[in-house]
Amino acid sequence: MEPGSATSHRGFVSWQGLLLTASLLTFWNPPTTAQLTTESVPFNAAEGEDVLLLVHNVPADSRAYLWFKGEGTVEDNRIATYMTDENTTLEGPAYSHRETIYLNGSLLFQNITQGDTGFYTLQVVKRNFLSELASVQLRVYPVLPKPSITSNNSDPVEGKDSVVLTCEPETQNTTYLWWMNGQSLQNGNRLNLSDDGRILTLFSVTRNGTGPYECETRNLVSGIRSDPVTLNISYGPDAPVILASGSYFLPGTNLSLSCHAASNPPAQYFWFFNENYLQSTQELFLPSIAVNDSGSYTCSVYNPATGLNRTTTKNITVIEPLSPPSIQATNTTVAEGDSVVLTCLSNDTGVSIRWIHNDQSLRLTERMTLSQNSSALTIAPVWREDAGEYQCEVSNPVSSGRSATIKLKVEYAPSPGLPGGTIAGIMVAVVAGVALIGALAYFLFFRKMGRASDQHDLSEHKPSVSNHSPGPSDNSPNKVDEIAYSSLNFNVLQTKQSTSDSPSSTITETVYSEVKKK
Ligand SMILES: *[C@@H]1O[C@H](CO)[C@@H](O)[C@H](O)[C@H]1NC(C)=O
Ligand SMILES: *[C@@H]1O[C@H](CO)[C@@H](O)[C@H](O)[C@H]1NC(C)=O
Ligand SMILES: *[C@@H]1O[C@H](CO)[C@@H](O)[C@H](O)[C@H]1NC(C)=O
Ligand SMILES: *[C@@H]1O[C@H](CO)[C@@H](O)[C@H](O)[C@H]1NC(C)=O
Ligand SMILES: *[C@@H]1O[C@H](CO)[C@@H](O)[C@H](O)[C@H]1NC(C)=O
Ligand SMILES: *[C@@H]1O[C@H](CO)[C@@H](O)[C@H](O)[C@H]1NC(C)=O
Ligand SMILES: *[C@@H]1O[C@H](CO)[C@@H](O)[C@H](O)[C@H]1NC(C)=O
Ligand SMILES: *[C@@H]1O[C@H](CO)[C@@H](O)[C@H](O)[C@H]1NC(C)=O
Ligand SMILES: *[C@@H]1O[C@H](CO)[C@@H](O)[C@H](O)[C@H]1NC(C)=O
Ligand SMILES: *[C@@H]1O[C@H](CO)[C@@H](O)[C@H](O)[C@H]1NC(C)=O
Ligand SMILES: *[C@@H]1O[C@H](CO)[C@@H](O)[C@H](O)[C@H]1NC(C)=O
Ligand SMILES: *[C@@H]1O[C@H](CO)[C@@H](O)[C@H](O)[C@H]1NC(C)=O
Repeated sequence: MEPGSATSHRGFVSWQGLLLTASLLTFWNPPTTAQLTTESVPFNAAEGEDVLLLVHNVPADSRAYLWFKGEGTVEDNRIATYMTDENTTLEGPAYSHRETIYLNGSLLFQNITQGDTGFYTLQVVKRNFLSELASVQLRVYPVLPKPSITSNNSDPVEGKDSVVLTCEPETQNTTYLWWMNGQSLQNGNRLNLSDDGRILTLFSVTRNGTGPYECETRNLVSGIRSDPVTLNISYGPDAPVILASGSYFLPGTNLSLSCHAASNPPAQYFWFFNENYLQSTQELFLPSIAVNDSGSYTCSVYNPATGLNRTTTKNITVIEPLSPPSIQATNTTVAEGDSVVLTCLSNDTGVSIRWIHNDQSLRLTERMTLSQNSSALTIAPVWREDAGEYQCEVSNPVSSGRSATIKLKVEYAPSPGLPGGTIAGIMVAVVAGVALIGALAYFLFFRKMGRASDQHDLSEHKPSVSNHSPGPSDNSPNKVDEIAYSSLNFNVLQTKQSTSDSPSSTITETVYSEVKKK
């Protein structure tokens, strides 16, 4: 029997005949050729989509393709038959006007519904009237509608209320996800998700839980997020903050205070001055304030939704500008080594005092002491560099005032070689005394060194000794009684020198002990 040639001779086969033949001659194809298979594209289809039931390894000698709903080839379930030679499609009992069979046997299924879910079977009838079968499963899932969020409490209060958010609608085989501020929400200590994830419980909400919240539903074929929902959580007021340009003002200034407190709904603001009600505004403006406007300005905030009150007080001080202080000195002409006390006198209270020397802030040295409030400056002993102009300055946060200038004169012995009066004469004697002692020291040192080391060492040390006592060695002769006086001053001079110079201290000490011996 040769069905292939018979068919070609006949050209057109009656449908009943072909189907009968096909159903009688259903065989599985031989293992030598590749297996006829079908697949659903896409694998999981969304309702309303078009699905292609794709056929692979179609036998080359196909005569007809028959598509059935279900896993068998029952005529009642036949969707359509495609005749390859004639390029015609014949509708079957299960045809729904949405199916198209292609040349290559694939079936296009348009606008599928969940009712289309199930198996589909392709029967390929070959020219030899043998046929091959392949089945495929069509999986159709609903496209999820856009979800929405419902809340069981539209006006929760911070720290008091728990809120239950529910993602609607409830659908089977759906995954529910929650997002807040774009961050995925998981079970935590302040929130709980139901087993299916559809219900989100926020325990004791805080303002940080305001949101926005979104819920998302997902199944195999779709995923969609709800519109964001923001919770109107009542909170606060927090302790208010008063903004002012300062705390101290000059009379005549315009005072402007503003109060701010975090609160939902916005807080109501009240101003009090020394506990007396002023007005209920967020800003307080007082033009041209006077000294008696000094006091406590209290901002009180109230949130009617939470029923809470908070207050903050700011002290404002209005001060007259300071009048300049006066300055006094125990003596404006002092000898170097003496002491002097400068005093700053002010009629104003609550001022801080600053001392100025030669138009610069006074740099305190260890010879200077300030009284408790800095009003008295003691310099003891006075050095020549302390001479100059002194002023004191009083200040408070709004103004400052400077005293008149007082000139401090410091008298001291002139440098050697200069012509002098009595003081100069004494100083010459002092210098001469130093020279004498220096020479003595030189002699003692020479002797000591001569004993300790050779001549070479000695000549090297020589210049350092002469540096210490320059010039005056060939000066005027010394009186014995003046030496005692000069040795007193010598100590003062030595102290001063040791801070600036660095003379050979061993020599100085030797000299001093030698003088004492005499
Ligand atoms: C088969 O028929 C369809 C219309 O029914 C036509 O569009 C298509 O080109 C034809 N294919 C062949 C290979 O004749
Ligand atoms: C069969 O034809 C359809 C329509 O032209 C095409 O989309 C599909 O890819 C073809 N199938 C195979 C296996 O080539
Ligand atoms: C798809 O099918 C649904 C009903 O199943 C129908 O309402 C809709 O109009 C169809 N869409 C198209 C594009 O045919
Ligand atoms: C909302 O649900 C939470 C948790 O069940 C509950 O504590 C709260 O009282 C509910 N709020 C309202 C307004 O029903
Ligand atoms: C949900 O999935 C299960 C198993 O996958 C299935 O048996 C059930 O029919 C599905 N339900 C719906 C409504 O799709
Ligand atoms: C939180 O949710 C889980 C289920 O996800 C539930 O078992 C548990 O009881 C819930 N906890 C509270 C405190 O509600
Ligand atoms: C809100 O969050 C901020 C920082 O994220 C935190 O400092 C603050 O304490 C939180 N407030 C509340 C009421 O939870
Ligand atoms: C938020 O809640 C408060 C207190 O119930 C209410 O006064 C306010 O109008 C609400 N705000 C919004 C935007 O709904
Ligand atoms: C809060 O302030 C309002 C307005 O000033 C006042 O009526 C109320 O008694 C205050 N409540 C508390 C608890 O202090
Ligand atoms: C404001 O002044 C009052 C009374 O003089 C005082 O008790 C309070 O401590 C001051 N407050 C501040 C913040 O300085
Ligand atoms: C302090 O007040 C007295 C009396 O009013 C006045 O004589 C004196 O000059 C004032 N002193 C200063 C530094 O303003
Ligand atoms: C100031 O000091 C100088 C030098 O020490 C002294 O001559 C003079 O008497 C002193 N004047 C007063 C007012 O103490």
